[in-house]
Parts: sequence; C-alpha cells; structure tokens
Amino acid sequence: MDKNEKVNELARRRGFLWPAFELYGGAAGFYDYGPLGAPLKRRIEDIWRQYFVIAEGFAEIEAPTIGVEGIYQASGHLAGFSDPLTGCKECKEVYRADHLIKHIIEVPDALKNEEIYKCIQENEIGCPECGGELSQVYEFNLMFKTMIGPGNKMTGYLRPETAQGMFINFPRLLRYFRDSLPFAAVQIGKSFRNEISPRQGVIRLREFTQAEAEIFIDPRDKTHPRFAEVKDIKMKFYSRQAQEKGEEEEMTFGEAVEKGLVAHQTLAYYVARTYQFLLAVGVAPDKLRFRQHKSDEMAHYAADCWDAEVFLDRMGWIEIVGVADRTDYDLKAHASVSKVDLSVFVHYDQPVKRQKLVVKPDFKKLGPRFKSKAKAVGEALKALSAEELKGGSGTKDDKIKVVVDGETIEIEKDLFSFESVEEEVRGIEIVPHVIEPSFGIDRILYTVLDHSYYEDVADGEIRAVLRFKPAVAPIEVAVLPLMDRKELVGPARKIQEQLRCRGMRVDFDISGSIGRRYRRCDEAGTPYEVTVDYETLELGTVTIRDRDSMSQVKVPEWQVADKLQALLNASIKFHEAGDLVAAVKKE
Ligand code: ATP
Ligand code: GLY
Repeated sequence: MDKNEKVNELARRRGFLWPAFELYGGAAGFYDYGPLGAPLKRRIEDIWRQYFVIAEGFAEIEAPTIGVEGIYQASGHLAGFSDPLTGCKECKEVYRADHLIKHIIEVPDALKNEEIYKCIQENEIGCPECGGELSQVYEFNLMFKTMIGPGNKMTGYLRPETAQGMFINFPRLLRYFRDSLPFAAVQIGKSFRNEISPRQGVIRLREFTQAEAEIFIDPRDKTHPRFAEVKDIKMKFYSRQAQEKGEEEEMTFGEAVEKGLVAHQTLAYYVARTYQFLLAVGVAPDKLRFRQHKSDEMAHYAADCWDAEVFLDRMGWIEIVGVADRTDYDLKAHASVSKVDLSVFVHYDQPVKRQKLVVKPDFKKLGPRFKSKAKAVGEALKALSAEELKGGSGTKDDKIKVVVDGETIEIEKDLFSFESVEEEVRGIEIVPHVIEPSFGIDRILYTVLDHSYYEDVADGEIRAVLRFKPAVAPIEVAVLPLMDRKELVGPARKIQEQLRCRGMRVDFDISGSIGRRYRRCDEAGTPYEVTVDYETLELGTVTIRDRDSMSQVKVPEWQVADKLQALLNASIKFHEAGDLVAAVKKE
C-alpha cells in the first residue's frame, strides 16, 4: 500500500470518511463524514470562522442551496460553467479531457476544446480503462438542474458556488453595514457540481463544502489598512514568471506587492491570511505553495488570482483555495439582469465644487414660437445633460432635440444660451470590486489527513499516527483505565466527566490491551491519553501520554484537567506538565 491508500484505508476504518450510499451500491463523488470526520470538519470550519468572520469583522449569512435561473444567467454559470468532456468510443467511459493531458501540459485549463483534442490525438492518448479511441472534446455544464414546485413552471439549480448568495444580497448587506465600504459577507455551506468523472475521493465531489468570503471594496483604493501585519511574512510564490522557470520564489508579502507580483495589498493581505489559516489547521508548509493563474487561465470575472496548492501523495499539486480579485463583474452582471442598481454612493471627505454647464432657455423667444408648450420645452431643455448640451447626442447642426409629451421637437440654438454654474458634489456612485477567498473545506480536510499522517516504530511494530494539531483533533483526550476493573473504571469515568465539564472532546476506551488502545488513539489523532492505574488508587496520580513522543508524565489526579487544558492550548510544554515517567515508555 502506498501512503495515499494507507490514508484512505485509515480514514475509512476509523470513521473519518465513508463512500456514501454503500448499502445501495454507492455513487461516485459523494462521501459521508463519520464520527471522527464530522467533528474534524466542523473544527476546521470553526477555525476558518475565527480567521474570516471574527478577526475580520465579516458577516456570516446562510442562503438557500437551490437558486432560481436568473442568478446563474447573470453569473455566467448557465452559459459557461462547463468542463471539457471526452468519451471512449469502445467502452463508453467518460473523462475530463483536460485531465488526460495534464502530464503533457501543466495547466490545460487555458486550452480550447479543439486544442485538447489535438493534443490527445498527437500524443496517441487512448481510453485509460480499455485503450479505446477517444471522442471529440465537448463542453459539459456542471450544474445540477431541478424543478421548483409542481408543474415544471420554475427551473432551479443547485448552487455551484456559495458566492452568489452574497452578491444577490448586496443591497441588504450594504444597508446592514450602514451604507459604507469596505464590508464583507461569508458563507460556509454545500455547493454542487455534476463533476464528469470524480475518482479522487473527497478531492473531487459532486456535493462539497465551500467557505467563501466576498469582500466588497472601493476600486479606487486597493491598499489594506492591516497590510503591515502581514507584510514581513515569507512565503513561496509561484508567480506567472516563476512558472516559466518552473521554480517557486520565496519572498515576503511586502516584496511581492512592491515587485508587482501580487496585484495589490488587499489581495496580498487575504492570500497571507489564507496562508496563516492553512498552517493553523495543519497543512504542512513545505507542501504548500501559492500559484498565480496565468492570464489565459483565469476565470471570466477575475483580474488576478492566486491558488493555494498542496502536494498530495499520488495526486501531485492540487488546488485547495482560490483567492481572486473578481472586480465589479458580478455586481454589474446582476444589476444588468435584475435591473436593480447595485452601486454605492461614496461620500467625499469634503464636498467638491465643480463648474456645470446648464442651459438658459430664452422664454421671450420660446413663448411666441411654442405657445402653450413653451414652458414644457424650456423644462426639457434644462433637463439635458452636459454631454447633450455640448453637442453630443440629440443635436444636429445648429439645432437641439428635446422630447415633450412623446413628441420630438427641434429647437434652434438662438432660442437658448449656455451658462456655467458652480455646483457642490458630495460624493460619487461606484460599483464595488470584490476580493474573494474561496476555500474547499473537503480538500483542506483531506490535506490535513495526508499531511498529518506518519509512521514510526513502537514496541517493534509500525505505528500509524495522525499528528493533528490539538485545535482540529476530533478527540482531544482519551481516558483509559489500565484494566477493565470496577476500581479503575469508576475513577476513570469521574475524570472523563470532569474533562467534559470543561468542554473537552473526550473518548473513553476499555476495549483491549492498553497498547492496542494507544494505537487506536494514535490513528484517531488524539493528542493526549490519560491512564488510570493502581497508583491512582494508592497515590492519587494519573499518567498523561503524549501521542507524538509517546512520553508519559505523572500528575496528581486533581490537577489533570488544568494540565490538559494548558497542554491543549499550548500554554505549557509536555515535559512541564508533570514528572516524566520515561522518555519513551515501552507500550
Ligand atoms: P478544479 O479545477 O480542481 O475543478 P476549480 O478551479 O473548479 O477546481 P474553484 O471553482 O476555484 O475550483 O472552486 C473553489 C474551491 O472549491 C477550490 O479551491 C476547491 O477547494 C473547491 N472545489 C471545487 N470543486 C470541488 C469539488 N468538485 N470537490 C471538492 N472541492 C471542490
Ligand atoms: N467562488 C469561486 C468558485 O467557486 O469558483
């Protein structure tokens, strides 16, 4: 078994991830999270909330997972949210065509369907299953379509991204944030994509969880007030230029913005926060890089985009987060389809004085010429915009056109004059730009499993460990009576209760030898085990075992909850928790 198979086998056996609907034969692209997987996922989401809701002051909302057609017409998903598909002419198996040439072209997203097909032909790529000839490449829309209500009257789509929920609530969000920019809203929830051939576990699901933030900013100023907090952080940037050389460049975020690698401070700030979040949940820094989209690879709405990519065994570099500058694409598109103004009035610090050209109708001449309509003609002239007055649309030779009561009237220029007046302008209407960090929680969770997994030797046998950070561990402490005896189980249950009262995630295990129970805890990624033995009864002490070093310390029973809490939030080191029993105890 290679590492990928070992991680998947452990995840299945221990209750992290189960292929869904197994009782009914299963379906590719759907997974269940078991008793260890669900809390691991929840804890990753909670840390995300800590970073992208609490620390940034963003608002979390929850929109329906089914959307009406207008949304996806405006967003561009109906017309263009598709992947290239090819099928085997022999066995009829279907494939994502771009994935079949990934070993030849590093980023095939930029290719047209004909180019992908040409590449397949030139390299004589056959069906991976039976070697048969592959068909022409065509587009397959990834949205799941459904009907809303009886009678097929209204079409709905399962959302392919959570982002649209924030865009279409823009007017209400703007009001909630007291009409001022910048502000942001987030959602953590399910998205659905009818992926062509999902064969990579939870990396490619048909129903998956996204955590997305849509940050609405004033496009005239893309600096970030908190950039100083992240500017000295060093990271590996795989920019467009670096991709030409095939080598990532390490530098600080400050340098990346100065050199123009990252388009602006705000984008760089959220890439940095993404980097910090990923490390906090347990992504290995040496298997993480940020890759910039090439200009022809970028989504139709984006101006600059950086993907967090992780190295996974067998799969290579995989995107787990995308951080994009979506510009004003979405708001403009929704404004145009919904016919609702989605701009913001931004007040200037000080009102600005401006000269404005206005028309002065000569009523003495208009009266005899237009009789009862003279007043209306005068008003229509006054209502013309500066461009129209200066001789733009509506003018011809020495005449100007106005519409009065549905009738177009031509007016000679000697019937009015121009006057320049000073006006006070208090602000400007702008359509905000959107910065979007988009996280795939399932991919992050799988990465945490893969990057946490390691093997060493304990008591002459290979031991498999998930080295979870305490902050994500589905179980934080296991309480283990040395033997299944009443006099040990009773005090152990009391400790379990005490720890639960403190809010810790506690497991209790009396099944099998203590060695086997330690192995189970290692595989579950439980950072600490408390063992209750006969010394607990005689001396009032228990042992705490450290998963990674397998060292043990003895602590008085009355201190155990405090010590564990301090260990879990890293306010003490393990050797400071009590008297070391043995550096590595034989297990
Ligand atoms: P890919 O090219 O791998 O299909 P994508 O470019 O379509 O991914 P995005 O549209 O940028 O992905 O989606 C944002 C995030 O959502 C991704 O970074 C990823 O973590 C997650 N994601 C997208 N599609 C899936 C999927 N089918 N299963 C699980 N997570 C997904
Ligand atoms: N919201 C970005 C994406 O899902 O593609």
